[in-house]
Amino acid sequence: MLAPLEGYTDAALRTLCFRHGADLTFTEMAHVESFLRNNRLALEKIEAHDSTPVQIQLLTGREEELERFLAGFEPFPGFEGFNLNLSCPSPDVIRRGKGAAMIKRAAKTQRLVSAIKGHGYQASLKIRLGTNAYEKAQKVYLNALGGVDADLFVVHAKTAAQESVEGDDYSVFPECVEAARGRPVIANGGIDSAEKVRLLRGMGVAGVMIGRAALSSPAVFDELRNGLGLNDPVKRVPDVEELRGEYEALHASLGGRDDYRDNLLRVLGRRATTRY
Ligand SMILES: Cc1cc2nc3c(=O)[nH]c(=O)nc-3n(C[C@H](O)[C@H](O)[C@H](O)COP(=O)(O)O)c2cc1C
Repeated sequence: MLAPLEGYTDAALRTLCFRHGADLTFTEMAHVESFLRNNRLALEKIEAHDSTPVQIQLLTGREEELERFLAGFEPFPGFEGFNLNLSCPSPDVIRRGKGAAMIKRAAKTQRLVSAIKGHGYQASLKIRLGTNAYEKAQKVYLNALGGVDADLFVVHAKTAAQESVEGDDYSVFPECVEAARGRPVIANGGIDSAEKVRLLRGMGVAGVMIGRAALSSPAVFDELRNGLGLNDPVKRVPDVEELRGEYEALHASLGGRDDYRDNLLRVLGRRATTRY
């Protein structure tokens, strides 16, 4: 899966990654209240462009605003459900009771998931291991996995207090898989090689989500599939120049913001930078 990446994962990048092996993509985070205010920039993030499979990522802590949004939402081809962001580390978002602040609020999260499912849509969560080391030690993430009836859980194996340069703690995955009781757990954080995917699959995860490595090469999905023997026959992986041309053509045909295109073209082909 292609991770939600604010400033990057526009329709063109999502479709490029889908063409090169990602099964599912995500829109970048958007506050539900901004949709309700008819904020143009927020609404652009969830416009239909083509039928690339996509989940819409939402930031909310309030059932009533989510209900109001869902009541007016029109699904489109490729729409695969909603992802609740329980992972944003921004202090401002956490102070407002959203993003990573929601990890320890399983009952409230369940109500949000029920609202989504009540409208007949799939609901997934993207969580971290807590807002800080204390919450991680308390294993708050297991409550979210065990106490919320989501269709899929993405676990970014870090706390919100950890810098993007710090390593991810993959040792949590076996207990996450157990806590989720049969519902798929997707591993996220620093995944850039078939060896890491093999290790994580050995821990029982159902799949992986890739962020920064997909900015360096949107074809990383096929590269890893080839390495894991999942592409039969093995697929040719395009070079950076081909990927650049393909992205630019998609951006021109699907539409999108120039600053997002510029952001991507700046990092495409670079080694996955650790700070963004
Ligand atoms: C530039 C950037 C923007 C991001 N925007 C979002 C976002 O909108 N929603 C979200 O859930 N995570 C966001 N993330 C976190 C990623 O989805 C992912 O969890 C994180 O980068 C770890 O995966 P990676 O090591 O494969 O990059 C962002 C990360 C980066 C680097």
